[in-house]
Parts: sequence; structure tokens; C-alpha cells
Amino acid sequence: MKRLRRKTVRAGLAAPLPVMVLGLVFSLAGTAAAEQEAASADSAPPTVLITGTSRGIGLAFAEWYAEQGWNVVATCRTPERADDLNALAAEYANLSVELLDVTREDHIRALADRHAGQPIDLLINNAAILGTLPEQSLGGLDYDRFEQTMAVNVYAPLRLSEALADNVEAAGGKIVAITSGVASLTLMGRMRGLYFYRMSKSALNMGWRALRTDLKPRGVAVLLISPGMVDTRLLRESGYTGEALTTEESAAGMAEIIADATLDDPGLPINVDGRVLPW
Ligand SMILES: NC(=O)c1ccc[n+]([C@@H]2O[C@H](COP(=O)([O-])OP(=O)(O)OC[C@H]3O[C@@H](n4cnc5c(N)ncnc54)[C@H](OP(=O)(O)O)[C@@H]3O)[C@@H](O)[C@H]2O)c1
Repeated sequence: MKRLRRKTVRAGLAAPLPVMVLGLVFSLAGTAAAEQEAASADSAPPTVLITGTSRGIGLAFAEWYAEQGWNVVATCRTPERADDLNALAAEYANLSVELLDVTREDHIRALADRHAGQPIDLLINNAAILGTLPEQSLGGLDYDRFEQTMAVNVYAPLRLSEALADNVEAAGGKIVAITSGVASLTLMGRMRGLYFYRMSKSALNMGWRALRTDLKPRGVAVLLISPGMVDTRLLRESGYTGEALTTEESAAGMAEIIADATLDDPGLPINVDGRVLPW
């Protein structure tokens, strides 16, 4: 089993320390039972729900938030085969693995039912597929594969976010989608191929702007974050051979951006290094 390297970019993301201190003060003061109950409710760790945590960036996100003390709902489509994720769950009592194939409406409904009424501070729509190069090259475009790519990369994050919007609103939380620089018209240059992946991420960007317009008045921040070039199976399948971040570096960098984001941020796609990606 591959062990993830541990890296903590910034403490205090979830501000667990001040809340713990608050809890201590309350208990030392011997407050009434009602106050203690309120204190323990206040000190409950924040909850993050992440898609596609069996490997890659999703797995690194799961470990990063688990280390920070968050309550982590790490979803994946085949928990019985997610060895690295199951090892994390064995290590962290605050991390639970839940079944979610993001293309399955019944899975989304069951997940939403299980978490009905529970505040979710952060929803990270991470799962995506790239597809192969030949099936996305002109002359060989495979439209069934296009449909599948759109189902995973575009329809699913929207459907899941719609299903869990009340949970995130209850927490005054954030909904993140992981986008990509290949969605940018400006950065397109002479790059060829990858029609489906590019088009899916561009559609995701627009969907996220629409979602932001709807959810901002409800106190939910809707964010687009790009992880940079990250050494994962997805990147290797793209044929890229240049320098890349580790999954841990990328997840920690994105977590920092997410923590700093506010409701009033303009909702532009932000790269892991903090740069705004041009549309
Ligand atoms: N790596 C990069 O350089 C890079 C650059 C830009 C953007 N991104 C974005 O970053 C995110 C993570 O990518 P990655 O590089 O970590 O990719 P990855 O290593 O290929 O991991 C993709 C994850 O998505 C899951 N997944 C795929 N289809 C799913 C489905 N139907 N239901 C649930 N989970 C599903 C996979 O689960 P299985 O194990 O079950 O297949 C896996 O856990 C994606 O949104 C990707 O577009 C990555």
C-alpha cells in the first residue's frame, strides 16, 4: 500500500484550536448542562464531503482534512477495492468511507437521505475522468464516451450539489468544483485533442457560475479551483511528462485557498498557486 506523505501547509484552517479552548473554558467554569450542551455543539468539528477519494487528489484531500481534525466523509464508487482509502479510515476515526458512484442518481439520493439535516461545511466535487486520447481525437470521436465524460465531470457535480445544497447552507459552507486549465479558451493555444475533457470542464465552469448566483444569497460560497499539474493516473493518461506537484502538495494548497475564500470572492477559477485562470 502506498503511504501518503504528510504535509501541513497551514494550521488553523478549521480553527479547531480556538473552539477546543472555548470548550475547555466552559467545562472549567462548571457551567450548567445546557451551556455544556451548547459548547459541545459548537466544538463539533466541521464536516467535509469529498467525491472520488479512492486515489489521486481526492485521497490526498481526505487525508489532509482528516489530519486537521475535520469529520471527513470520503466517498468512492468501489469502497471494497479502495485499499489506500480504507487504510486511512483505519487510521483516522474521524474519516468514514461511503459509497458514491457520482453518475448514479440512486447513490446520490441515498447519500442525501443518510445525511439529511446534517450541516456540511465543505463539499468538494473532485471525481472526474479524462478518457483516452484516441477516443477524443478528430476522426475517431467516440460519442458514447463523450456522454460518459459529461455524466461524471458535469452532470454529477451539479446533481450532487443540488442534492446537498440544504446541508451546506445549514453550515454556511462552501461548494467546490475541481476545474482545469485545459478548460480555458485563453490558454488553449495550439493544444489539440482531449475534446471531451476540455468541453466538460468548460461546461463545469459555466455551471458553477450559475450555481454561485443561486447559492450566494443563501450564504453558500461556490468555488472553482484548479489543482495545477499533479502526478496522478489522470495526468499520466494525458501523456504529460513534465514537472508535476505531488497530490499532497496540491491538496494542501487548494485547501488553503478554500479556507481563505469568502462569499464575496468573484467566483473566478483559481489555480493552486493562487493565480486566477483566464476563462
Ligand atoms: N492530475 C492533474 O494534473 C489534474 C489537473 C487538472 C485538474 N484535475 C482534476 O482533479 C480532479 C482529481 O483528478 P486526479 O488527477 O486525482 O484523477 P485520478 O487519479 O484519475 O482520480 C480520479 C478519481 O475520480 C474517481 N471517479 C471516476 N469516476 C467516478 C465515478 N463515476 N464516481 C465516483 N468516483 C469516480 C476515481 O475513482 P476510481 O478509482 O473508482 O476510478 C478516482 O478516485 C479531477 O476533477 C480532475 O479533472 C487534475
